[in-house]
This record gives sequence, C-alpha cells and structure tokens, in this order.
Amino acid sequence: MVKACVAGASGGIGQPLSLLLKGCPLIDELSLYDVVNTPGVAADLSHISSPAVVTGYLPADDGMKKAFAGCDLVVIPAGIPRKPGMTRDDLFKINAGIVRDLIKGVAEACPKAFVLVISNPVNSTVPIAAEVLKAAGVFDPKKLFGVTTLDVVRAETFVASITGEKNPSKLNIPVIGGHSGETIVPLFSQAKPAVDIPAKDYDALVNRVQFGGDEVVKAKDGAGSATLSMAYAGFRFAEKLVRAIKGEKGVVEPSFVYLPGVAGGDAIVKATGCEFFSVPIELGPSGAEKAIDVVNSANDAEKKLLEACYTGLKGNISKGVEFIQNPP
Ligand code: NAD
Ligand code: LMR
Repeated sequence: MVKACVAGASGGIGQPLSLLLKGCPLIDELSLYDVVNTPGVAADLSHISSPAVVTGYLPADDGMKKAFAGCDLVVIPAGIPRKPGMTRDDLFKINAGIVRDLIKGVAEACPKAFVLVISNPVNSTVPIAAEVLKAAGVFDPKKLFGVTTLDVVRAETFVASITGEKNPSKLNIPVIGGHSGETIVPLFSQAKPAVDIPAKDYDALVNRVQFGGDEVVKAKDGAGSATLSMAYAGFRFAEKLVRAIKGEKGVVEPSFVYLPGVAGGDAIVKATGCEFFSVPIELGPSGAEKAIDVVNSANDAEKKLLEACYTGLKGNISKGVEFIQNPP
C-alpha cells in the first residue's frame, strides 16, 4: 500500500500533479494539503475511477498532521512562483519558511516518508529540509530529493528539436548540479543514445536548458512559472521512485541529494566541493541507493560549465543551511 501526499495541492503545479498521482495505479491513498481549496480539489479528483482514495485537508483542526499521517511519499510544490524579472533566489524570503514548516510537519507525522521538494529555490530549500530533519533526529539522506527532473525533460526536448529524434523521451541526458541558471549543467557528451550537437548550436542549447524556466515565466507574463511541464516532471520522478521502492531494478533519474549520505557520493563531493548536488541516482527500496559519478567524465566544455556551477551553488546551499542553523 502506498500513501502519497501533495503539499501545495491547490496550486498551479499541485492540481495537475495530484491529477497524475490520482491516475497512477501504484498509489493507493492520496492526501491533498494546502492553505486553500483542498476540499474542492479533493472532491473533484475523488470522482475519477482509479483506485487511489483521495482526501483533502486545510491547516485547521491539525490538517497538516492528518494529511501527512502514514504517508510513504510527500511531494512539496508549496510556495510562490516567479514573476518576470525575478530570480529563484528572490523566492527564498517567503518559500524558505513555508518549506521549513512543512518539513517540521513531516518530521512529526511521517518521519520515514520519502520527501520530494519542488518549491524554489531548490538549491536552498533542500538544504533547509535536510537541516530541519537533522534537528528533529530523523534525517535519512536516501529519502530526501530535490526535484530537478524538469531540467532533464527540457534537455530531452530541446536536443530532440535539433537532432530530429521523433520521441524526445527516448533520450537519456544527464543534467547535473543545481536548479537555477548556471548551476544547471547538461552533459550532452554522456547522452544515451549518443547525440551529435553541431558546434554552432552548442552554446544556445546549453543556455536554453539553463534558462528554460525564464522562457516560461516570460511567456506567462506575470501569471507564474512552469506548472504543467513541472507536474509531468514531478510525476515522472515520483512514479519512478515508487516503482523502485516496490522492487523494480535499474531505475535511474537525476536528483538533487545530500551526497555524503548516499553510496558513491563522497567522490562527487570531493570533485565538486558541494555536499548537495544533482547527479543520476540509482533508486531502490531504500530510496537513493547510489550516486552515479558523471562529473569526472565530463568533457572540457562541460567542465567549464561545472566551474561556474560550483560557485553559485555553494552560496545557495549555505544560505539554506544558515536559515535553519542561525535563524534570521
Ligand atoms: P502556485 O502559487 O500556483 O501554487 C502554490 C500553492 O502553494 C498554492 O496553492 C498555495 O496556496 C500553496 N501554499 C502556500 N503556502 C503554503 C503552505 N504553507 N502550506 C501548503 N501550501 C501552501 O505556484 P506553482 O506554480 O504551483 O509553483 C510552486 C512552487 O514550485 C514555486 O516555488 C515554483 O518556483 C516552484 N517550481 C519548481 C520547479 C522545479 O523544477 N523544481 C518547477 C516549477 C515551479
Ligand atoms: C522552472 O525551471 O521552470 C522552475 O524552476 C520555475 C521557475 O521559476 O523558472
């Protein structure tokens, strides 16, 4: 039996993500938590004739605790999105506290749950989540994931638009580092099957993967950031994780994790100087079972991108850690 919760379930990502989870035959129970509108979203989804039993909770009457109770998986897209002209770091002021409080709820109500953090800035909200779980004495690094799948999905799509691949999702392209601008590093040299990117297209392609989020923010013109593609990506990661928890072998997807707590992670920390980093992760019944070192096999152009990544990412990570260790 698998119980999943979406925290931030009434939002732009939360609703389509909850729809996809409700339609997933691997999920038996789905609880929806938000500060608004969850009774309506839950009533709506509950009419869909898939197995998952749906319930909705608001903060009143210990709603968060009830939503999280008994959960195996908590997916968190709660928090404000960007508007044009904002960086993801500009969201820190509001979203840091939202993620901190939700993770405190997880630590109390379902400390053994797998936690998938979508809320931005992911480079800082995941370290915040880790610090809160550590302080509560329940941190298992194998169970905490920053969701960077949208960067992978974008890389597949944008590469296919150049190579002519008819089904972009057949491509496997590691995108590593963090989840903002220059901290996002696509490793086209390690794509499987191999892809041939003409030299004249390389810089623009890297830039499009790194700043794909801005493309959507600009097009939405003040109405938020990526929601539908994020719901697709968040569901892709959640479903892969559930399949791996249930025993499927060979399930790999990049994710932003605390590397010292994952097998194979120490060598990557040594190479990058970053304790939190996204690399392809082999998923299994205990969660992040192995971090796959693709950093050391990056080519020269990618190594240059990685140097720029480390600087920004280290600052974002410390900012998250500081927020919990020395609260403002
Ligand atoms: P949204 O404003 O449409 O939805 C956010 C939801 O969170 C709202 O329903 C709101 O009521 C809820 N919320 C706010 N405070 C809460 C709390 N304390 N507890 C529970 N719920 C709470 O925003 P969105 O477009 O769905 O984006 C949500 C977050 O996801 C943003 O921070 C955005 O930047 C981020 N995001 C991340 C990625 C990624 O790749 N990781 C991609 C897209 C968006
Ligand atoms: C994205 O990559 O689309 C998200 O992180 C949302 C954003 O702010 O760009």
